[in-house]
Amino acid sequence: MFLKLFLPKGNVALVEGGHILRGVIEISGGKNASLPCLAASILSAETSTIENIPFITDIGCMLDILTHIGSKVVLHESSKSVSITPNVACPVIPSELSKRMRASTLLLGSLLATYGYAKIEGYGGCPIGKRPIDLHLRAFKLLGAKITMKENFIEVSARKLKGAKINFNFPSVGATENALLASCMADGKTILTNVAIEPEVLDLVNMLKAMGADIVVDVNKRTIIVNGCRDLEGCRHRVIPDRIEVGTYAVASAITYGNIQLCKLNTCHIAEVIKKLVNMGVTIDIISCGHIRVIVEEEELRSTDIITRPYPGFPTDMQPQFTSLATKARGTSYITETIYENRFLHVPELKKMGAKISIVDQRTIAIKGPTILKGSSLHAKDIRGGMALVLAALSAQGVSYIDGVEHIWRGYENFIEKLEKVGAKVRVIDSV
Ligand code: UD1
Repeated sequence: MFLKLFLPKGNVALVEGGHILRGVIEISGGKNASLPCLAASILSAETSTIENIPFITDIGCMLDILTHIGSKVVLHESSKSVSITPNVACPVIPSELSKRMRASTLLLGSLLATYGYAKIEGYGGCPIGKRPIDLHLRAFKLLGAKITMKENFIEVSARKLKGAKINFNFPSVGATENALLASCMADGKTILTNVAIEPEVLDLVNMLKAMGADIVVDVNKRTIIVNGCRDLEGCRHRVIPDRIEVGTYAVASAITYGNIQLCKLNTCHIAEVIKKLVNMGVTIDIISCGHIRVIVEEEELRSTDIITRPYPGFPTDMQPQFTSLATKARGTSYITETIYENRFLHVPELKKMGAKISIVDQRTIAIKGPTILKGSSLHAKDIRGGMALVLAALSAQGVSYIDGVEHIWRGYENFIEKLEKVGAKVRVIDSV
């Protein structure tokens, strides 16, 4: 029901390139911050209200899952908030919902903590890599859960979870979040090491603390200590701004040699992205910590090298957008993707537009620029890669038709309206 509310009214984006973008874009609440907070809402018997949630299809899907398991979900459209009164009547997440997005796995941690049992009939997400959940399941196991994995479902169960020492061999965002959700009401102390310290993880910690959880984070040591408590209260929590949306519209300004102001953001969360933009010759005026202006004053952008890393490194979710931007920069840019094994799905599409991109090895591409891109018929295959095509099309000569925009809708609230507002000629149509 909520998913339907947020679905796009067409599946092809028609983008007329060559317009300089100017104006102001307001940043929405974070997708990746909202999803774990929604999963956390069922940890208490009381109602929680989460503010600043983006109206996108991944959120619609999560709200449908919460409704399916038995919770009461009330959306306050004007204030962009949602109130959840938890109830677990059915701790089984059916495949038609779980396969739509990987974040459905976050319910495993909170259902395990409250209900002692959860079953998920597969899990989805973008086709950008293998994306197993072994680290999540290992954390549950160390907390005392029993795991059953079959071809078409995963089941987790525990009578009572017990605090444990859990070291992650990779600082996985989702595994850290799931371990937090599962452990905050476990018996005793849980020590999590080599955790992810993405702003979205810390936002979840802040919500859990507002619910009464006892959590201490040492960001420098990548360690979190959770002292399990008996029960949690409902809370009101405002999710952080979407840092990937900030980076994406900053690239939209740079790639069109535009002048866009971005507001309602947190500059601290995008330091590495700002650094790369500046390195490429983009001017970023920091008007305040929640408001920046992105302009290109130089005649030409410069090439750069990027290696994606866990936070505070350069975010993998900004890699496709920078691939598009690099086609406009003089020289050869090297981009290395270290987080996912298959995150260059946008490259063949950019090449159709005339981009000069070669594969250096399995993880690295070289982009030679500057190139005048030509409008083309393109396929969006994942959220960020799809948006990278929109950005490239904005800077191209002529019209591009991008199908698969439903992927972009998973992560970018009102992106057509936001781009139109700053002068882009873009609309969504049913098919071509
Ligand atoms: C989250 C973000 C996603 C972002 C990613 C990395 C959400 C909803 N999504 O995804 O947009 O791209 O962080 O910043 O917050 N891995 C394993 N085993 C596991 C877990 C992860 O091998 O159990 C691997 C993954 O396959 C991937 C890497 O670790 O190659 C990073 O995954 P992770 O940090 O867990 O990302 P997500 O939480 O899925």
